[in-house]
Amino acid sequence: MEALRVDGLVKNFGGVQAVWDVSFGVKAGEHLVMIGPNGAGKTTLLNLINGQLTPSAGRIEFFGRDVTSMTTHRRSHLGMARAFQILSLLSNLTVMENVLITLHGTRPSRYRMFRRVEGFADVYDLACQAIESLDLWERRDELVKNISYGEQRRLEISLGLALQPKMLLLDEPSAGLTKDESQVVVDIIKGLGNEQTLLIVDHDMELVFEVASRIIVLHQGAIIADGLPEEIQQNSRVREVYMGLEE
Ligand SMILES: Nc1ncnc2c1ncn2[C@@H]1O[C@H](COP(=O)(O)OP(=O)(O)OP(=O)(O)O)[C@@H](O)[C@H]1O
Ligand SMILES: [Mg+2]
Repeated sequence: MEALRVDGLVKNFGGVQAVWDVSFGVKAGEHLVMIGPNGAGKTTLLNLINGQLTPSAGRIEFFGRDVTSMTTHRRSHLGMARAFQILSLLSNLTVMENVLITLHGTRPSRYRMFRRVEGFADVYDLACQAIESLDLWERRDELVKNISYGEQRRLEISLGLALQPKMLLLDEPSAGLTKDESQVVVDIIKGLGNEQTLLIVDHDMELVFEVASRIIVLHQGAIIADGLPEEIQQNSRVREVYMGLEE
C-alpha cells in the first residue's frame, strides 16, 4: 500500500525553480528521509506535500486520494500530520495542556473550552499516553517555556503523534539539539517502528543513517538518488554534490 505518491512536482518562485519534476512514492510503514545541501528544495517539497504551498505543476496522492489542491487542514483530517514548529507550542501553558489542546483541535483563542476537555477521559488518556511515550511524564505540569529545547522538540513530535496520523512529516527533528538530545530523538523515531509512516527532512547524517529505511537525495530541486542507506552511501554522485560539502 502506498501512503504517498508524488508525480512530476514542480514549484517555481518567480524565476527560481525550487522543485523540478520530482516523482517518488512512500510505502506505508517506510521511514523515508530526504537529504540535500542548502537550497536543494527540501523544505519547499515538504510544504507542497503538506499543502502549505501549491505546486506549479504535478500531482500528489495520499493513500490513493488526489490531495493536490486540498488545504493543509483537509490533508490533516485524512491523517497527514506535521510535527509542529517550536513557535506554535504555547509557551505559557504546560506540557499537558499543549497536548490536550492539540488533541481537541482548538486554537489558543478557544482556550476557555479547555477546562471541559479535561473531563473527557478518553482524550485525557490519549494525552497521557503521548506524554509518557516520549518520556515527558515528569515534565507534564511544567510550563513549556521552562522546559529545555530538547524537551520542546520531543513535545513537538509528541503533538504530531498524539493525532495518530497515517503519515508524520518531520522537518529537521534534530535541528539545534545537542548530541545527547539528538540521540533521544533518534531513539524515539526508531522506537516508532514500521507501523508509523514517516517522511523526514534532516541535515544530521548520523540521524539520517540511523533512522532511514530509504533515502532520497535532492540537489537543485531534483532527485539525484533514491535508495537504501547503503546504496546512498556508495553513490558517487551523492558523494560529489552532498557528502563532499559536509566533509
Ligand atoms: N518563498 C520563497 N520565495 C522565493 N524563493 C524561495 C522561497 N522558498 C524557497 N525559495 C528558494 O527555493 C530554493 C529551495 O529552498 P528550500 O528552502 O526548499 O531549500 P532547503 O533544501 O530546505 O534548504 P535548507 O537546507 O537551507 O533548509 C532556494 O533557492 C530558495 O532560495
Ligand atoms: Mg529547509
